[in-house]
Amino acid sequence: VNALNTVYVDNSATTQISREVWDEIRRTKNHYGNPSSSHLMGQNSKKLIEISRNRIAKVINAKPNEIIFTSCGTESNNTALNVKGHIITSTIEHSSVLNAVKNKDTTYIPVDRHGLIDINILKSSFKENTEIVSIMFANNEIGTIQNIKQISKICRAHGVKFHTDAVQAIGHKKIDVDEYGIDLMSISGHKLYAPKGIGVLYVRNGIDINPLLFGGGQEFSLRSGTENINGIIGIGKAFELLKYRNNIYIDSLKNKLIKGLYNTVPNISLNSTGDLPNIVNITFKGINNKLMLKALSANGIYASGGSACSAGGNKPSHVLLAIGLSEKDANSSVRFSFGLYNTEYDVNYMLHVIPPIVKWLRNQAVNG
Ligand SMILES: Cc1ncc(COP(=O)(O)O)c(C=O)c1O
Repeated sequence: VNALNTVYVDNSATTQISREVWDEIRRTKNHYGNPSSSHLMGQNSKKLIEISRNRIAKVINAKPNEIIFTSCGTESNNTALNVKGHIITSTIEHSSVLNAVKNKDTTYIPVDRHGLIDINILKSSFKENTEIVSIMFANNEIGTIQNIKQISKICRAHGVKFHTDAVQAIGHKKIDVDEYGIDLMSISGHKLYAPKGIGVLYVRNGIDINPLLFGGGQEFSLRSGTENINGIIGIGKAFELLKYRNNIYIDSLKNKLIKGLYNTVPNISLNSTGDLPNIVNITFKGINNKLMLKALSANGIYASGGSACSAGGNKPSHVLLAIGLSEKDANSSVRFSFGLYNTEYDVNYMLHVIPPIVKWLRNQAVNG
């Protein structure tokens, strides 16, 4: 085994910047004027921002003035949820939702063992002062896609705005905000082969939000601060490049890995649903996932124990607990997430390396 192999299968945590996105950023590098400046250089920068805004709007069937550039998915989620009234969300949201609502009047909708929210509980959770419902489009640990059309219809019937965290979904699923009845939607660049530090909050015309940043009035006064032009150009290009046909390729890598592991490693169970084409979340019964990730990393395989944001802690994944896993099994689970740059060779290498690592860790656990 060549220890110099690099198999990056943590694309749900972040992606590399694609060549096309780098090229676009490089091509426009001389447009560094402040978009708020009235001189030509400033106005040229502003034009580039508007091109990017249009590109994104087109892909999600929005109007350009409904696209607000933010610094990341976290900021988009925090902004959407900056409300005073009652909030309804789910137990399996990303920490940038859960930690934004934890000290507020919040109802958490539980999920079944596939990660789908309980629609009947949602229906009975509305209160007089419910201000927003926030349910993620696709989950970052197990890939579950919610029934967004049904959820948004329920929100409309109650006259409550509907926000969805589409950070994981947008790269894999064509999302038309009208078709899905979405009022607010969070997006992040670095999951889409664009740079880190750029996000989008889609805000339907007529829907109010409470900005977090005040200042020069950029982004329709909804998000002040001099625009991250390079990031904006990058995410605009990434949207232009979104071609859902690649899902078939990624899906085939995922299925090859799952089949290969089932054939070679006993006592494993699949937690991911297959809704997202790129996520494989597996419980390797009896192993400690931290040790497994360490061993994988030593062999050049980069995966994660769940969401990257909680990877540093020792807590079991709240998502895996919510779908009914024991703490022990949650701590024996690993997420592999594929991207455009993975190859069949990567999967072959994984199937070569993972079975002996699992065997070794299980022996250690028994003997230690
Ligand atoms: C579902 C989900 N929401 C939000 C975020 C946060 O996005 P960002 O890293 O751009 O703040 C992530 C990223 O890990 C995510 O997976």
